Amino acid sequence: MGRGYFITGTDTGVGKTIVAGGLAALYKDKGLDAGVMKPVATGCKRINNALVSEDAVFLKRAAEVDDEYALINPVSLEQPLAPTVAARLSNTKIDLEKIRMNYDSLCEKHDYLIIEGVGGLLVPIEAYYFVVDLASEMELPIIVVCRSNLGTINHTLLTVSYAREHGLDVKGIIMNDIKENGDDVVKKTSADEIQRLTGLPLLGIIPFDKRLDVTQFNKEALLNIFRDKIDKDIII
Ligand SMILES: Nc1ncnc2c1ncn2[C@@H]1O[C@H](COP(=O)(O)OP(=O)(O)OP(=O)(O)O)[C@@H](O)[C@H]1O
Ligand SMILES: [Mg+2]
Repeated sequence: MGRGYFITGTDTGVGKTIVAGGLAALYKDKGLDAGVMKPVATGCKRINNALVSEDAVFLKRAAEVDDEYALINPVSLEQPLAPTVAARLSNTKIDLEKIRMNYDSLCEKHDYLIIEGVGGLLVPIEAYYFVVDLASEMELPIIVVCRSNLGTINHTLLTVSYAREHGLDVKGIIMNDIKENGDDVVKKTSADEIQRLTGLPLLGIIPFDKRLDVTQFNKEALLNIFRDKIDKDIII
């Protein structure tokens, strides 16, 4: 495998799936072979007695890969809670070995991998094993997805600082407008401050667009927006 990215966020619901899917679609568009993975998913839906993650389905469609669902998403939990809690409530144990095995298989199969984390870096996966530990094990540079409204400077600096403390290679920041009619002054000044204080590149600002919906995959919109808004020269 060449490389790829581990996509994390400053919080849950900031747009990691949209960004991971958008990047996977960009790789495909450039004729590059990128696999995707959602190692741990919570809030999965029960379909024909199997637990299915909307995120994993979205990523698979965006990347246009034929990998089996179970390879992409080895750990699927029903409750929309932190993984440790969701596992406890469903009386299951999160199988870290299975995650590692699937990751190795995907690395062998693909030239690049785009991995979506779960929540933010300090979300617990197993007793004292956090998302940051998973990202470290995978040895991929991380991209931090942050929101664009007030408060984002604090959340983003905390995430970048924690990632660096743990030796992660932070490639850059992607700001995502998850809310309609955001304040442009807040967005622009926050983006500038985040770059000034982290020294990291802003890899793109994704605008709010109703077609960027994890539950309704729209390949054309996803690709057009990411082609237009992402700094492809730095990322790919
Ligand atoms: N730029 C955008 N414009 C409009 N809607 C968006 C945008 N980005 C994300 N959304 C919507 O906001 C919600 C959260 O986005 P997303 O699922 O990508 O976040 P996440 O960080 O992956 O969340 P989770 O922690 O649950 O995995 C989704 O319903 C998604 O469709
Ligand atoms: Mg997601």
